Amino acid sequence: MRILGIPGSLRQGSHNRALLVAASELAPPSATVEVVGLQGIPLYDGDLEAAQGLPPAVAALKDRIAASDALLLATPEYNSSLPGVLKNAMDWLSRPASDIPRVFGNRPLGLIGATPGPRATQLAQAAWLPVFRTLGLRLWTGGQLNVSGAGKVFDASGALIDPDLRERLAKYLAGFAAFVERG
Ligand code: FNR
Repeated sequence: MRILGIPGSLRQGSHNRALLVAASELAPPSATVEVVGLQGIPLYDGDLEAAQGLPPAVAALKDRIAASDALLLATPEYNSSLPGVLKNAMDWLSRPASDIPRVFGNRPLGLIGATPGPRATQLAQAAWLPVFRTLGLRLWTGGQLNVSGAGKVFDASGALIDPDLRERLAKYLAGFAAFVERG
């Protein structure tokens, strides 16, 4: 089972990227988690789309999503809502609308998130729900992984060093993989 992990942050030291890298190590044997960044995706511009079509980075990511069995998004929280970088990418990925069923339709989706703050990205995760519904994604709701205090659970290299969170992440991934398996 191929799970594509996308962090909603471009930072080299992103906690959300680090969380997905940890997920790639803690996934059950039946699954692989491949982490892909959003670098190279411009701001959505309808004029650019009309003149040149999809930017190459967008077309390539659409194909990678379409070839995966499931998506795993790790979302930061900005101003009590979802992050613009990831929303912008999802907007490009939804173009043209006629291609939404191929890329997103009924695709299993896991949503996790990390923040140094105390509220653990819960508002960001809730803000994503109308977007997922619009795109026809099938969000797994059997488990949640919301990380607060992210500054303390990763070491300087980005490795996940908190044993409790490692256990929670492994449990989340096992539940999500079983959901994907059930189809
Ligand atoms: C934040 N941050 C933040 N955190 C949070 O828990 N709730 C929030 O509403 C916000 N708002 C917010 C706005 C803006 C503009 C920035 C730049 C940051 C902090 C944010 O969670 C923190 O920068 C994370 O480290 C971002 O995720 P990555 O880059 O580590 O994956």
